[in-house]
Amino acid sequence: MKYSIASLITLAWTVTTVNAAVPVWGQCGGLNYTGDKTCAAGSTCVYSNDWYSQCLPGTATTTTTTTTTRTSTTSTRTSTTTSTNTSTSRTSSTSTTRTSSTSTTSTATPSGTCGTFGNPYESGYTTYLSPFYVAEVNAAIANASSPALAAKFPAVAQIPNFTWFDVVAKVPTLNTYLADAASIASKIIVQIVVYDLPDRDCHALASNGEFKIANNGVNNYKGYIDGIAAAVSAYPQVRVVAVVEPDSLANLVTNLSDQRCANAQSAYLECTKYAIEKLRQCNIWLYLDAGHAGWLGWASNQDPAAQMFAQVYSGVPNNRVRGLATNVANYNALQAVSPDPVTQGNPTVDELSYIRAIGPKLASRGFPAKFLVDQGRSGVQNIRDAWGNWCNIEGAGFGLRPTTNTPDALIDAIVWIKPGGEADGTSDTSAVRYDATCGLNDAKKPAPEAGQWFQAYFEDLVKYANPAF
Ligand code: BGC
Repeated sequence: MKYSIASLITLAWTVTTVNAAVPVWGQCGGLNYTGDKTCAAGSTCVYSNDWYSQCLPGTATTTTTTTTTRTSTTSTRTSTTTSTNTSTSRTSSTSTTRTSSTSTTSTATPSGTCGTFGNPYESGYTTYLSPFYVAEVNAAIANASSPALAAKFPAVAQIPNFTWFDVVAKVPTLNTYLADAASIASKIIVQIVVYDLPDRDCHALASNGEFKIANNGVNNYKGYIDGIAAAVSAYPQVRVVAVVEPDSLANLVTNLSDQRCANAQSAYLECTKYAIEKLRQCNIWLYLDAGHAGWLGWASNQDPAAQMFAQVYSGVPNNRVRGLATNVANYNALQAVSPDPVTQGNPTVDELSYIRAIGPKLASRGFPAKFLVDQGRSGVQNIRDAWGNWCNIEGAGFGLRPTTNTPDALIDAIVWIKPGGEADGTSDTSAVRYDATCGLNDAKKPAPEAGQWFQAYFEDLVKYANPAF
């Protein structure tokens, strides 16, 4: 008997439509969430934050969060990249081990004793597929607007992207992912985003976080980092590539006139230093987020930015900071065919020109930075009304696939850092985290809270993907 792939997908689509339980790693609750709250057999719905509960394997030993009430903030959101050429064919996780979270102090080995500190994506390494994202995409098949489109989704799930640790409650899942990865291949990379600074997203509202500086946020953050460090130490055989705190240092370069960023400055610097100090295991590679061409790429911002990053870099001896990540969750081209009209006035029109401009400025200040570039949502150009717009840009498509085949030796890899299909921020004007940028003309609406699944947006990314799926 022969079935075409399309008919099998159609079948899967039909079947999953009937079977309503949320799959393991899927969303099962949160503010504004209207979907199914029943987890598939063998998993339990665990509260993660006010906006998110997730089906985790096993009968969860519940992780409780000390969630404080959010106040608002504003932001200039950018994005970054993801990586590489090899992907596993794994589509779901089988691991059920959950270790407890928290503040174990990790034993960091100074990188001086770690041997060569080269490109983590060197050949022979495969990149782990986030089971969480795979589950999101599988759930999207059930909700697809057409079987023909749904037939393209499984290929998206095979492209690795980064797992964002945006709340401390998710840290225990890092142990699960690392254990799972270790069981799949001996040379494997797990890609994560460290993202829980106190007073996070100081120049915007959509991604305001759970920790407040005024409410023990710096110490809470240190506990969060300790949890990540302990997991990384527990799996020395797995390579971890970590993008550190999207937008934060860039905000300190350009947005100190915003009182919220000025207030957060010393906490951001202390917390970033702590993260770099604790995450010095030989199996981790850190890339600090460096905004994008349309932000720190402006000529007048390049030197102050290079100064800031070089200072942070040199503040921790024997660190594991390999370089910077650019265009995280943004839409810029790596190499624009022709400059997007919104770039007018800035000769640094794309990520390659930004990296070629700032790379030498960093090196001359003692930071020989290499780069990751997010191209996950950069497939379609000339779709923004203004370069600073960052929220759920309408018409975006999945972009260049992760690869180490890059146009400059400064770039370690093209990667997908923002999980395509997760929202940048809500368009609900009554929401606490509503940011006006998400209500602009070029933002797709209606959009759910940042990080939540945005089915219509995911479908557009697939439809407009370039290269196509
Ligand atoms: C959100 C996070 C989310 C991340 C990846 C950010 O904008 O604030 O909650 O994990 O995007 O989708």
